[in-house]
Amino acid sequence: MSILSRFLRRDKRSDARRTVDNGVDNEALSIEPMRRAHLSEIMPIELTAYPQPWTQSVFQDELAMQARGSRHYLVAKIAGRIVGYGGMIYLDNAAHITNVAVDVALRRRGIATELMLDLAWEARQAGMESLTLEVRESNVSAQSLYRRFGFAPVGVRAKYYENRDDAIVMWCIDIQSEAYQDRLRTIEAERSGAS
Ligand SMILES: CC(C)(COP(=O)(O)OP(=O)(O)OC[C@H]1O[C@@H](n2cnc3c(N)ncnc32)[C@H](O)[C@@H]1OP(=O)(O)O)[C@@H](O)C(=O)NCCC(=O)NCCS
Repeated sequence: MSILSRFLRRDKRSDARRTVDNGVDNEALSIEPMRRAHLSEIMPIELTAYPQPWTQSVFQDELAMQARGSRHYLVAKIAGRIVGYGGMIYLDNAAHITNVAVDVALRRRGIATELMLDLAWEARQAGMESLTLEVRESNVSAQSLYRRFGFAPVGVRAKYYENRDDAIVMWCIDIQSEAYQDRLRTIEAERSGAS
């Protein structure tokens, strides 16, 4: 993402940084592009977040493709420490969210919401028409997060995970619409503890 496009998007946001109740003290949460140097902090989160975590080389491949413009990955930091990350692949007119994960000790404080806000604004900026993703059928917490962002279930991929668990396919359409922009602004306004 160019500095200009980030600037333009940030203009539409109510703020660029927020404070999050991290259980110790209130520190500003910042979101920035993911880089290879972040992987040593990302991997411990990834390993606890998923039954079948990505390997470091999957992240490296994704970052190589980010450099060519077909991916967008972000990290969330508090006090300089990575507390979450997420990203998406641009395919035709849809942004496929591939990964969203938050440090288990810092969940339920709005960090994934912040990452999703950045990803959704960025996908709009990139001219995408829709967002889509797969989520484990049993992962009701993530489904609830995605529903808030306008995702609706459209189908099931049977035995998608570990050849055992079904995936729910979710889509969020018309993200260029004014209604979707209003939804993102409402989420920004409603998030708890926003500074
Ligand atoms: C899913 C995940 C990213 C959410 O991160 P988070 O920072 O805790 O999410 P937020 O605090 O922004 O929560 C946003 C909303 O999601 C829903 N949600 C999140 N965690 C939830 C939980 N444990 N139970 C029920 N709802 C939950 C709620 O609606 C919540 O809003 P609320 O707190 O105002 O009620 C995190 O639980 C995680 O890393 N899970 C493991 C990795 C994963 O499953 N990623 C999704 C892959 S598809």
